[in-house]
Amino acid sequence: MSAFEARIKETAALVEAALDRHLPRRSGPLGRVVDAMRHGALDGGKRLRPFLVIAAADMFDCPRERSIRAGCAVEMIHCYSLIHDDLPAMDDSDLRRGRPSVHKAFDDATAILAGDALLTQAFEILAEPATHPDAAVRCRLALELARASGREGMVGGQMIDIYAEQKNFDLASIEELQRLKTGAIIRFSAIGGGIVGGAGEPEITALRQYAEDLGLAFQIVDDLLDVFGDAVSLGKPVGQDADMDKATFVKLLGPEGARDKARSLVDRAKSHLDRFGARSDALKGAADFVFARKN
Ligand code: IPE
Ligand code: IPE
Ligand code: MG
Ligand code: MG
Ligand code: MG
Repeated sequence: MSAFEARIKETAALVEAALDRHLPRRSGPLGRVVDAMRHGALDGGKRLRPFLVIAAADMFDCPRERSIRAGCAVEMIHCYSLIHDDLPAMDDSDLRRGRPSVHKAFDDATAILAGDALLTQAFEILAEPATHPDAAVRCRLALELARASGREGMVGGQMIDIYAEQKNFDLASIEELQRLKTGAIIRFSAIGGGIVGGAGEPEITALRQYAEDLGLAFQIVDDLLDVFGDAVSLGKPVGQDADMDKATFVKLLGPEGARDKARSLVDRAKSHLDRFGARSDALKGAADFVFARKN
């Protein structure tokens, strides 16, 4: 295992424990939605987004308690987006993180509610004083996460993704789609780490530039894995993008073109962090990890 892999695993374990604490089991009918939330949020995933939050915040010596909370908030948004993405009305995927998708393990209505509850709880966590003693910082985190998640962010991107099926989107339109669908939450992760850590505006700008390139590279690799990956290591179905004729970089640029683009985006992402010197090694490692990942 590389030093980076050890580091992301170590952070993922901290996030897992914190998510577990945020989602205590309940008895009775209410317990069913909690069980579905736990199924969708616990014990799986790379935890890349919380890693970005925590690694960015570490650069500014942020107490881990705060950055882990911000990381849990973004991971809850991400897990909600996956639960809804897998629903029959969307990608109709039965497998997620190597397990039945939430609507398969429970039912569609419970999956919708579990997603809704994770979405809402993300903002509850950010708003609680333990996230940061300064209410203005908490408010900014909530504002940025709301923008990244909603109409002009992930939800907007998911809408375009559905609309774009069976259409010939050009490169600029595909970039816009992916920037919203996947990029916005990844961008929040990096700048959210800066915000909770008390970074200055020029530093937040550098984090944003890094994350914009990283987010696009991340989705290009996701599209490549849908073609060349295997369902067992990915823990999710393959070949769905071609089946649904999704607008992907692979469809437009071909596999080699898409891989080259991902590589150059990853290199450019890292170059935005040069101003931070060795402090940014973890975030630079994350960029290489995004390119090389097999799941
Ligand atoms: C998958 O995200 C969905 C996309 C935004 C492309 P990840 O590949 O980060 O999924 P997990 O969290 O590791 O399962
Ligand atoms: C979904 O993109 C991104 C989200 C906002 C959830 P995909 O549909 O490509 O994600 P996977 O491949 O199912 O993980
Ligand atoms: Mg999708
Ligand atoms: Mg999908
Ligand atoms: Mg995909």
